[in-house]
Amino acid sequence: MMKALLPQLMLGALFAATSSLAPEAHAQASVKPAAAAPAKFTELAKTPQMGWNTWNTFACDIDEQLIRESADALVSSGMREAGYVYVNIDDCWHGKRDENGFIQPDPQRFPSGMKALADYVHARGLKLGIYSDAGAHTCAGKPGSRGHEYQDALTYARWGIDYLKYDWCDTEGLNSKGAYTTMRDALRAAGRPVLFAICEWGDTKPWDWAADVGHSWRTTGDIYPCWDCDFNRGTWSSWGVLPILDKQAGLRKFSGPGRWNDMDMMEVGKGMTEDEDKAHFSIWAMMNSPLIAGNDIRKMSAATRKILTNRRVIALNQDERGIQAWRFMNDGQLDMYAKPLANGEWALMFLNRADKARSYRFDWNEHELKDEFTHNQVHFGKVRHSFTELWSGDTGDTGKPYAMNVPAHGVVVLHLRPQSPR
Ligand code: GAL
Repeated sequence: MMKALLPQLMLGALFAATSSLAPEAHAQASVKPAAAAPAKFTELAKTPQMGWNTWNTFACDIDEQLIRESADALVSSGMREAGYVYVNIDDCWHGKRDENGFIQPDPQRFPSGMKALADYVHARGLKLGIYSDAGAHTCAGKPGSRGHEYQDALTYARWGIDYLKYDWCDTEGLNSKGAYTTMRDALRAAGRPVLFAICEWGDTKPWDWAADVGHSWRTTGDIYPCWDCDFNRGTWSSWGVLPILDKQAGLRKFSGPGRWNDMDMMEVGKGMTEDEDKAHFSIWAMMNSPLIAGNDIRKMSAATRKILTNRRVIALNQDERGIQAWRFMNDGQLDMYAKPLANGEWALMFLNRADKARSYRFDWNEHELKDEFTHNQVHFGKVRHSFTELWSGDTGDTGKPYAMNVPAHGVVVLHLRPQSPR
């Protein structure tokens, strides 16, 4: 143990004292060396990160071939062009630590090594993500980063890693803010910009402490591909789309550029109905969740590809203002969400939670929207807006009530733009 820790400690000291610091850290250091506060890479994740992750479909059954094929599929499916740039390897890529404590990839599954894989991914205009854990072991029992944070961060930087998902298994007795801050500082010290995705399932309210630590934080336990269910796994549960949505109550004020509420990797294309998948995707977009696909993108259906690459819906998620939607009405079965966008535009989502389709007539005169958090407000009855429905492409304006049919477990999503003043 001591043997493994020593190089790690030496590295920490070296980082604190010398030249591998990022330029702005140098600037601070020259003014007041002792106060050179490491920080997260603030230029990343100005809009929610988009990409693909191995876990939801493949769990531990991963290897470099899968990663290469999936990178290729991101390109050939049009997903990269739609914004999905992160190729994220989740748990189980690990081999052992070497005699100095440096982590190695599993030599059977990743025989070419991570640097070669990063080169492959980068050559396609994509970025490579990896996974570790704040405890001594990951959730699948692989080596975690505890006591090796600076070494691991340095290793990731050498490999060319761009994204770190950092989990929370095997952490009894650890302080979450402290543990995640240590890894943030290690990443900063290693010098390569790495998007830092916190994954402690919302257990210690990361929204209260993580804005300066990471770029996103999971708000819940794991997702499961179902509409309104939870899947009991003994000591913990995985959650369907609606339970995850409902667990976001009260969190919107913490969301914004560089600090996102992460509702977990998506289950689009993993067995729910097409309407449920469209709703799931629309909800994640409206709530500013990272859009990380979790299906087998090498083999997805045309319908799944179309959902994941719906640029009009993606544009809501990627809006530069980064304001998370709020629920302004619900009648038990039909939820209505509003999201203020750049240029005085708005998105509205009508979400039918029920098992039956629902006809609904929305009278623009009856709804003045006031966002108590950002103070955006609009009265569509008074200021006429044109709109597009983002799944059907239907268009209209707010001059007359809108009669809609919202599918069971489905959505209608409108993007509204103010017409020039009359
Ligand atoms: C969980 C995490 C999942 C996945 C898994 C890997 O803690 O929430 O998204 O990363 O660990 O073991």
